[in-house]
Amino acid sequence: MENLLISGGTRLHGKVRIHGAKNAALPILAATLLAGGPVTLREIPELEDVRTMLDLLKHLGVKVKRLAPCRYRLDPVGFAGWDAPYELVRKMRASFLVLGPILSLHGRTRVSLPGGCAIGSRPIDLHLKGLQALGAEISMGYGFIEAKSKQLRGNHIFLDYPSVGATENLLMAASLARGETVIVGCAQEPEVVDLANFLNILGAKISGAGTDRITVKGVQALGGGVEYTIIPDRIEAGTYLAAAAAAGGNLQLTNVEPEHLRPTLAKLVEAGATIQETDRGLFVERDGPLNSFDITTLPYPGFPTDLQPIFTALASLSQGVSLIRETVFENRFRYVDELLRMGASIKVEGNVALVYGVSTLYGTRVKAHDLRGGAALVVAALAAQGTTTLTCLHHLDRGYADLELNLQRVGAKIQRVPAEDTGIVTA
Ligand code: EPZ
Repeated sequence: MENLLISGGTRLHGKVRIHGAKNAALPILAATLLAGGPVTLREIPELEDVRTMLDLLKHLGVKVKRLAPCRYRLDPVGFAGWDAPYELVRKMRASFLVLGPILSLHGRTRVSLPGGCAIGSRPIDLHLKGLQALGAEISMGYGFIEAKSKQLRGNHIFLDYPSVGATENLLMAASLARGETVIVGCAQEPEVVDLANFLNILGAKISGAGTDRITVKGVQALGGGVEYTIIPDRIEAGTYLAAAAAAGGNLQLTNVEPEHLRPTLAKLVEAGATIQETDRGLFVERDGPLNSFDITTLPYPGFPTDLQPIFTALASLSQGVSLIRETVFENRFRYVDELLRMGASIKVEGNVALVYGVSTLYGTRVKAHDLRGGAALVVAALAAQGTTTLTCLHHLDRGYADLELNLQRVGAKIQRVPAEDTGIVTA
């Protein structure tokens, strides 16, 4: 067990290279099951969630080879596995993304129900309704979903909510379905576009990704023998941008796509930061006062729910009152209890948090309840007076590679220490 020790109050200055996007890498790794030959993926982030997905693919029979840091070769040819066991799906709900590929290839699959997590119940009804529209027979029992289909057939699917995972599962299932599928009301996230682009270089016929209407013309089989580079992680980038705005100073981010960060960049400018788009990426600086700002999280292209905790931490240090409305998940304010321990002044009522900015936060012992809530506490600790001990780092390790290394390189006083060294060992 390890904890993070963060001594706040140091301004940041330097360069951070952003990794490939976790939420693009996971569906693309699942999609390798559909390939007709080996594929090489670049910018795969070395994260716990990625290791879990690779374990699942190996369990299914995919040959996985790590060619270099962040570069993997996967050969799915001849994989015979058809079930995704509870111990893997429980660790990471994105394991559920193998459902569409296996069903369309093997005609049957059994995937453990992903269950809820710290931020909400995370249902899968939209995934299942869409697969049934493609002709799958779905049954549930004993904590598993079983899906069967001799041959998936294209259809018109209307998603009641632009679910990222449901859109991704259906894109993969429809790629080999007989006939044309039109998904209306689908997610428009850049990670969905990245998945569609990857499937298309394998030979799929997907158009409209990035809009609310995607058309998939089913093909007999997909090819292989391709290389693909995952897009930069906009949530990781937004986290470092918010860290610089909170702690003060400036950062130069490289391997970043500003186009994927429009609402985030607009909020940072509203908060008082300066943003410059350079040919190498993004430059952020904050020297003056922090202004309050309001946020409503929305599906893309709105403000991303994954940056809501991190920007609430930033708002807690601003001058004035900020209103944060979370519309995507039903329980994404658990981290606020920990911010209150640091001296923040925040009132949560339902899916709204009212943040009364304070001039100082104070380092203390805090606990990560989930991935982005943990990141919010790191941002707060970097700006706080005194030392913060952050426990339950396994949440952070799911979504941020080299976090303390990157922050150390730009001047932060942060280190990972064995839990016993800080006198705190949490269950
Ligand atoms: C993806 O989760 C991301 N994860 C999440 O990132 C992200 O927060 C989320 O999209 C929203 O942007 C990955 O891509 C691996 P959804 P996903 O299906 O696909 C409801 C992170 O921190 N819903 O778009 O699970 C659901 O309950 C993670 O990196 C249904 O009601 O998100 C939620 O309220 C956290 N029925 C809303 O839609 C369904 O069948 C958004 O869920 C599916 C979803």
